[in-house]
Amino acid sequence: MLITVPDLLTKEQVAEARRLLESAEWIDGKVTAGHQSAKAKNNQQIAEGHPVAKEVGEMILRALGQNPLFLSAALPLKIFPPLFNRYSGGQNFGTHVDNAIRQIPGTPLRIRTDLSATLFFENPENYDGGELCVEDTYGVHRVKLPAGSLVLYPSTSLHHVTPVTRGTRLCSFFWLQSMIRDDGQRSLLFDLDLGIQRLGGELAGNETAEKTAVQLTGVYHNLLRQWAEM
Ligand code: NI
Repeated sequence: MLITVPDLLTKEQVAEARRLLESAEWIDGKVTAGHQSAKAKNNQQIAEGHPVAKEVGEMILRALGQNPLFLSAALPLKIFPPLFNRYSGGQNFGTHVDNAIRQIPGTPLRIRTDLSATLFFENPENYDGGELCVEDTYGVHRVKLPAGSLVLYPSTSLHHVTPVTRGTRLCSFFWLQSMIRDDGQRSLLFDLDLGIQRLGGELAGNETAEKTAVQLTGVYHNLLRQWAEM
C-alpha cells in the first residue's frame, strides 16, 4: 500500500527547513547505502547526526506524531532519525531494495524497516525528473509530491529515483518499524479506521449507527491487540 500524507509540514516549516538544509555541508550519498545499492546510488546527503539533520529531523518527527493520517496508516513503533538527500545535474538512484535492518547511529537500537518514507522539500514544477518509482504487483507507481508532503511505501518494494535533469530535488527519507509487520494486515486496519471515522462523522445522533461505530471500534482494537508487536 502506497499512502500520501499531504501537507505534513506547513509552508513556513518547509521554508525554515530549507534554509537550514541549504546551510549544511553535503557529502556523497553512498555513505548510508548497502553494498548492492551503493552501485546504484548517485546523489548527495547530509551526514547522519549533523546538527542540521537533527534539528530538521525533530521538526519532522513532531509533525508525524501529530498527524492522524500518518499514525493510522503507519501504526509506527520506531522511526529512524530522518536523513536528507538531494539530486541535481542528472543524478539518480537506480533500482534497489532498502536494507531490512538498520541500526540507529550512536545507539544499540535496531529497527526492522517495514515502511519507507520520502518527504519532499521542493515543488514539482521547479525540477525535471526526480520521480520516486515504486514497483508492486500492480505495476510502477510514480511519485512526485508538493513541498511539505510525504509518501509512505512498503520497504519490501523495489524502487528507484529517475535522473534530475533540471533544478534540484531536495527530500528527507527515513524508515520505520510498524507495530504491524504485515502490509496486508496494516492496510486492513487502516481501512477499518477510515470507515469508523466516516461513520462517526456522518451519523452522529443516530443510535444504531453510534452503537455500530462502537462495535467496529472494538473490532479495530481487538485486531490491533492480536497483531501488534511491541
Ligand atoms: Ni531506497
